[in-house]
Amino acid sequence: MTRALLIDTDPGIDDAVAIALALGSPEVNVIGISTVGGNSGLAATTNNALRLLEFFGRTDIPVASGYDEPYRRAKTETGYEPVHGHDGLGGVDLPAPTIKVVSTDAPAFLADKIRNSPDPVTLVAIGPLTNIAHLVDQHPDVIPMIDRFVIMGGAARTGNVTPVAEFNIWHDPEAAKRVFASGLVTVMVGLDVTHSVKTHESLWNWLKDCSKFGKVFDHILTSYTNTYETFYGERMTHQHDALAMAEAIWPNLMVLEPAHIDVECSGELTTGMTVTDTRLRNGVKSNGFVAWTIDGDDFHAKLMSRLSALAKSLG
Ligand code: BDR
Ligand code: CA
Repeated sequence: MTRALLIDTDPGIDDAVAIALALGSPEVNVIGISTVGGNSGLAATTNNALRLLEFFGRTDIPVASGYDEPYRRAKTETGYEPVHGHDGLGGVDLPAPTIKVVSTDAPAFLADKIRNSPDPVTLVAIGPLTNIAHLVDQHPDVIPMIDRFVIMGGAARTGNVTPVAEFNIWHDPEAAKRVFASGLVTVMVGLDVTHSVKTHESLWNWLKDCSKFGKVFDHILTSYTNTYETFYGERMTHQHDALAMAEAIWPNLMVLEPAHIDVECSGELTTGMTVTDTRLRNGVKSNGFVAWTIDGDDFHAKLMSRLSALAKSLG
């Protein structure tokens, strides 16, 4: 059975790869995309979602914009993710979109899609959890209707923005805390998995074919790899969002462990840290699963075969 997929995103270079993976995968039917501020401001992330869909010829997929400001703190207290460039897509040459958002109320849009889907809905969130926190506040009736909720976010061990915090959670910790306490069962695909998979530049050689897809994705991935090289001294990237998307498309692709997941919102050194209690002692109940490991070769085989099929379909 095809599963319906809703994507909440802040594109974002690895978001663009994740969206392409979803569009190239017949296991899921993308029924809507909502945008959130994160890697860039909301205006840029929304613009990117729209122009990517137009590029893919998928203007049938509705887009709704959501929140720019974090859930409980001012935008000035948090920050954008510089690895994605000034426009969020590494300065790629993609025309401005001609399509428009169908709504500026992402929580209402997502709730409507969830209530009316004849197929089980997977919601995958690959940006900060701001829209999802407002969704569970404003439309709590849809929580039990969501078949599966997968996020790219958090780190049980080591962070990226700080020693202990991952960007999507750090950008809006109160939103993540709200979501984890909401009753939604979260599959947390965090840095424990995404930092374990290195996507070396050589895996992208096929993008040099000058096809329509190749030109755009070669540009954005070269930009992303250049930035990574300055951090890690290696021409590779971590495809954070495509990894979370893979777990949404192929449930249990990763080794998952039940956990009680919470977020530190005020620690002097630890703001944005996900605290994942896998001990589950003294009456502490799990509210989700932490992803620990994945077969990186299998992930790369799946990712590249789906992207190359999508590339061929675009000509
Ligand atoms: C996450 O932060 C963003 O830079 C990426 O798009 C990903 O969602 C990784 O920490
Ligand atoms: Ca993202």
